[in-house]
Amino acid sequence: MALMLKGGHLVDPQVGLDMVGDLLIEKDRIAVVGEDLDQAAYENLAEELEVRDMVGKIIVPGLVDIHVHLREPGYEQKEDIASGTRAAVHGGFTTVCAMPNTKPVIDDGAAVEFIVKRAEETASCEVIPSGACTKGLQGESLSEMGDMVARGAKAFTDDGRGVQDAGMFRRVMEYAKPFNVPVMVHCQVDALVGEGQVNEGVVSTRLGLAGWPAEGEECEIARDIAICRMTGTPLHIQHITTERGLDLVRDAKEEGLPVTCEVTPHHMFLSEDDIGEDYNTSFKVNPPLRTPEDALALIQGVEDGSVDVIVTDHAPHTAWEKDREFELAPFGMIGIETSLGLVLTNLVRRGIIDYQRLVELMAVKPREILNLEPVSLRAGSKANITVFDPEIRWTVSADEFESKARNSAFIGQELIGRATDVYVGGVAKMKEGTIVE
Ligand code: DOR
Ligand code: ZN
Repeated sequence: MALMLKGGHLVDPQVGLDMVGDLLIEKDRIAVVGEDLDQAAYENLAEELEVRDMVGKIIVPGLVDIHVHLREPGYEQKEDIASGTRAAVHGGFTTVCAMPNTKPVIDDGAAVEFIVKRAEETASCEVIPSGACTKGLQGESLSEMGDMVARGAKAFTDDGRGVQDAGMFRRVMEYAKPFNVPVMVHCQVDALVGEGQVNEGVVSTRLGLAGWPAEGEECEIARDIAICRMTGTPLHIQHITTERGLDLVRDAKEEGLPVTCEVTPHHMFLSEDDIGEDYNTSFKVNPPLRTPEDALALIQGVEDGSVDVIVTDHAPHTAWEKDREFELAPFGMIGIETSLGLVLTNLVRRGIIDYQRLVELMAVKPREILNLEPVSLRAGSKANITVFDPEIRWTVSADEFESKARNSAFIGQELIGRATDVYVGGVAKMKEGTIVE
């Protein structure tokens, strides 16, 4: 089946595209991009031609989220590859990078092979595996990096934890270097963070919860940048949350070091002030929600280019795990079904970024960081395509999630803009807001 998407607003900074036009897709590739393509001229194609009206919609290269917890193997009660990738497609994503903090941890070739195979069997979108830096995320010995890369791992990360020992982290960076994959770091000095639950400061005092200080994150960002300077291995700082942390990244970039960073919607659009007396555990995330000033600094970083990508850190948990005392609930919130709507509502509609920058942050740069084949709106490119309607008004509702989990702090918020159609390799995965089975 060949496919023509007609009359959408095509946006792709990689090819300087910002116009109303049509796309012709044949098999898994984009065949033609043009203005007002003549349907009749293509009706003698070998295959049948499906024409879809995309007037009023924005069409962009498939969105990519490089920080997602799919929880399989081992925690399928929270999420699995099938449900997590359905949620991804529902949120407008064609590609996700799966974090390795599963049970068992993805720290050798066989485990990566398992992810690849399960994704082939059950996933609705592309799943890019990442592997742990250290065995069992224990920070004590190196994982089987070569074996993992040979089977498809595109990044190394001990996400959920920081590698505590600086010497060990140096070995991680040195060993990773020849494989040409980035080391992605969750920055957390355990000796400073301890049992910290929320940002250390007025709010932790008011709520009577142990503090998770900004310095617990910033000290490790500084250390990791120093070791990046020592080794030259590409370093990607995960879910950065503070203004000073971002300044460290700015300095590193200015120096020419191969350092990139990501932010999440929850760290930009929520702050510690949103954690109320009801101790809603959906607001418990790691790193914690910081001050309103920090949140604003992250938004400025997105605006000025210091932030490279927006990710969700989609972290599903069961209701019974979250429905407990704040200290006992696990860290994390889901995000993959609300990310695009939040970014459109809070950044694009407010004029902080335009569609071009959105595509850079959510499609182009994520692929670049993982060294994936570029996807763009040009003839010959793989047909990974996200279509969204920038005018749909919707209210985030727990009942509408494709994820198994409900731990979103955005439930009840009204958003404007939502993905309607998703194509992965030319195959429709969502049509007019409904997942294609
Ligand atoms: O909030 C978080 N949840 N942060 C992390 O780093 C890990 C994640 C999880 O695995 O639940
Ligand atoms: Zn993390």
